[in-house]
Amino acid sequence: MALEFTVTERADRASDAQRQEVLANPGFGDHFTDHMVRIEWDAEKGWHDASVAAYGPFQLDPAAAVLHYAQEIFEGMKAYRHADGSVWTFRPEANAARFARSATRMALPQLPEEDFLQSLREIVSIDQAWVPDASGGAETSLYLRPFMFASEAFLGVRPARKVTYSVIASPAGAYFGGDGIKPVKLWISTDYARAGEGGTGAAKCGGNYASSLAGQLEGIAHDCDQAVFLDSSTHTYIEELGGMNLFFVYKDGRIVTPELTGTILEGVTRSSILELAKDLGLSPEERRIPIQEWKDAAENGELAEIFACGTAAVVTPVGELRWDGGSVDHRREGHTDEIATKIRSTLLDIQYGRAEDTRGWMTRL
Ligand code: COI
Repeated sequence: MALEFTVTERADRASDAQRQEVLANPGFGDHFTDHMVRIEWDAEKGWHDASVAAYGPFQLDPAAAVLHYAQEIFEGMKAYRHADGSVWTFRPEANAARFARSATRMALPQLPEEDFLQSLREIVSIDQAWVPDASGGAETSLYLRPFMFASEAFLGVRPARKVTYSVIASPAGAYFGGDGIKPVKLWISTDYARAGEGGTGAAKCGGNYASSLAGQLEGIAHDCDQAVFLDSSTHTYIEELGGMNLFFVYKDGRIVTPELTGTILEGVTRSSILELAKDLGLSPEERRIPIQEWKDAAENGELAEIFACGTAAVVTPVGELRWDGGSVDHRREGHTDEIATKIRSTLLDIQYGRAEDTRGWMTRL
């Protein structure tokens, strides 16, 4: 039976003027709405106490298992305001299904899809004033962050018998700042891998992101924005960026992305692009891509463009690849980002209700 949510506390943390100031220039991940959703789970009662309360800190026992063994998962989604004022989200069933897969991998309980979807409706309904008006073409949205963690105070290593699910929301502009299409520079991380065979790479769990940070720091030290991770066994094949998937567009019309080997996150934007690419006359391929192929194809002038994608970053062109001892500057090769820009606007037009949603991807919240 579906959970009943109770609004236990109403809050008004920001004045209208303060909220408008944030919405005019939200950045990414810095500001949070007035409320949060919370649902508790324990091994005896299952899911219970579904509530909507004021946004605020959790009271967490220092022995809470998540703080020690990182039993945690999350999702990233967005709520978009359409021109008529209605608020929509993109393919939430795909996020609900991935959240359930992540839960299984991390030995957490599965939250039923209807409760996951209702939790999104609850936060967006109470905090709807925080969904930016994107009518001026600003492409701002309300980023939704559902997450679940082991809240049981217990230091033995076993799946927690007490778990907390929550949703917070954060008004969002471009992940990398600017207009969102500024090309990023990538660093090939060879010292660090993000995930290994049989590990948690396909789950959206905090540990994967933590393990990507040392590679990212290495990238930043080489004046790059993000690191590209290779497979951990052979250090040969391209996997992902840690928080984004990668696509390679060849001049002959192929659009290639690393196949899902169990160590890569199955991005909702990634799978949507694989579908949209066909409408644009491109031939999508999912396969293993040796890092050498990137370098060779760049040298032979076969690559038209490369881009990264994800819910937060949408579609972001890759301007340069650097590694220990070399680099490829795609700007110098004359990449124009025409396909990345086209795919980005096709996706955004569907999400903001400016184009017909022929695949039934949008859900009204
Ligand atoms: C997202 O794209 O929603 C993510 O969860 C990745 C993170 C870089 C924000």
